[in-house]
This record gives sequence, structure tokens and C-alpha cells, in this order.
Amino acid sequence: MPVDFPAVLNECDRVGTLSPMNDVLASMSAHRSVRRFTATPVPDDHIRRAVEAARMAATSSWIQAYALIQVTRASERERLVELTGGQPQVAEAGAFFAVCADVRRHQLVARQLDKPYVGNLETFLLATVDASLFAQNLVLAFESLGYGTCYIGGLRTRLPEVDRLLEIPDGVWPLFGLCVGEPDPEVPTATRPRLDADALWMKDRYLDDEAVLAGIEAHDTDAAAHYAARGLPGRNWSGGLWRKFKAPQREHLLEYYRGKGARFE
Ligand SMILES: Cc1cc2nc3c(=O)[nH]c(=O)nc-3n(C[C@H](O)[C@H](O)[C@H](O)COP(=O)(O)O)c2cc1C
Repeated sequence: MPVDFPAVLNECDRVGTLSPMNDVLASMSAHRSVRRFTATPVPDDHIRRAVEAARMAATSSWIQAYALIQVTRASERERLVELTGGQPQVAEAGAFFAVCADVRRHQLVARQLDKPYVGNLETFLLATVDASLFAQNLVLAFESLGYGTCYIGGLRTRLPEVDRLLEIPDGVWPLFGLCVGEPDPEVPTATRPRLDADALWMKDRYLDDEAVLAGIEAHDTDAAAHYAARGLPGRNWSGGLWRKFKAPQREHLLEYYRGKGARFE
């Protein structure tokens, strides 16, 4: 039965003007990436608890197409700092994981049953979406336990080398890394503003360009205030966006993922 909406209302605690707040919404709304951690490791029983909750994420047709590889060896964590483009949090966080899309399990089952296994672009998307939903559930689980997290897309920067380091088998595709740990109390963090809900929640049809641009303008105002408060006046959100997309990124990925058995037909 759906939750009675007023039952989850906390009268004193509100986000924005309209959204009712409960513990889950409060935790989600407080998200910020953490890049500086104490040296305290994350104990296995906390990781187990987070993984046990995160694995309940919805999964396309129940296929559960993901694997989480924790990198525990200090030397490999140090090497991964380099391979991710010099991100020290990869070694410093209490725990570091490679989040992987995983169709190997399905392939093994097919092989055992002597049945065909056919992959294509849809299979790649199924596994990528499944793994991402699992990962975000995992982030929320860790954050609910008081940990800070930071996704590491930089894991794809030198992915063939990451693959060799971690001896990733065929049918398993690392998508991104995830740092988890106790936030360093000496280093303050803040939430980064996001597009207004109305800029991305549309009814029936995609917004016209004018409305999209109005949403961007409003967001730029919030982003500019965020930057200015951190000593970076004159910056906003959209002004630097083009840099991210001015040239093709990580062009080796098609060949790499194909080499691991992914198909894009
Ligand atoms: C898939 C993914 C990959 C990311 N990769 C990196 C990364 O390599 N290094 C990093 O410092 N932050 C990384 N981030 C964090 C984003 O920069 C961050 O989420 C974004 O700037 C918004 O900030 P917030 O998470 O503090 O709200 C990544 C986030 C996602 C979702």
C-alpha cells in the first residue's frame, strides 16, 4: 500500500518551499561528493550492510548485471591514483571500489545449460543501467551510515591499464570507481546546486528551447552564488560546460569494451 503522504511529513523540516522532508529525503538532499578522507578504513561489516541494502535496487528483468570489486591492496590503490589522472582520494579513502557492469554471470549460466548467449547494444545498456542504479543505492546506503563518497569516472581514463591491473575477466566492464570513507573533518564540504525540479520535470512533452534556457539561466544564478561564496566570482554552470564536450572523450572505450565482449550492434 502506498505510504500516506502526510504520514511522512516532518512539519518543521522542509527543503525549498514545497518538498516534505523525511530521513531518506534529508539524506539524499544533503549529498555532496567528498574528496578528502581520514585514514580510517571502512570495516567489512559496514560494507556488507551497505551492499546488502544496495543490491535491492530495481534491476531490469531481475538480471542483476553488476559486480563490485573492492581494491584492498595499497600498491594497487596507489597505481589507480595515477591511472585515474592523479586523484589522491582513490588511495586515501577508507575503501575503494570498481563498479562494473557484469554479463559474465549470464554467459556462464548459458554455457552451463548449453544455451546461446547473444549480446548487443541493449545488453550493454541493461548492464550499465543496472550497475548504475546499484551504485547510486550503494552511495545512499553509505551516506546513511555517515560515510562520504566520491564516484571516480577517471577509472575509464586509462581503462585498459586498470583492466590489466585488476585482471578483469571478459563480460565484466568497469564503469567507474567509488571512494568511500570518513570525511576529513578539517575539510569543509558543501552541496552543489542543481537545476530546479521544474527545469527537468516535464509533463507530456519536452520543454521548448526558451523554457530550457530559462531553467539554465536560473541555475546559473545559483551556481554563480555557489562559486562566489568559494572565492571564484564570475563563474557559473553553463559557462564552462562546453569545455567538457569540445572534443571526443576517452576514445579508446569502444575498442576496450568490444574487446571485453560487449556488442554495440
Ligand atoms: C559517474 C560519475 C563519475 C564521477 N567522476 C568523478 C571523478 O573522477 N573525480 C571526482 O572528483 N569527482 C567525480 N564525480 C563527482 C562529480 O564531479 C560530482 O558528483 C558533481 O560535480 C556534483 O557534485 P556533488 O556530488 O558534490 O553534488 C563523478 C560523478 C559521477 C556521477
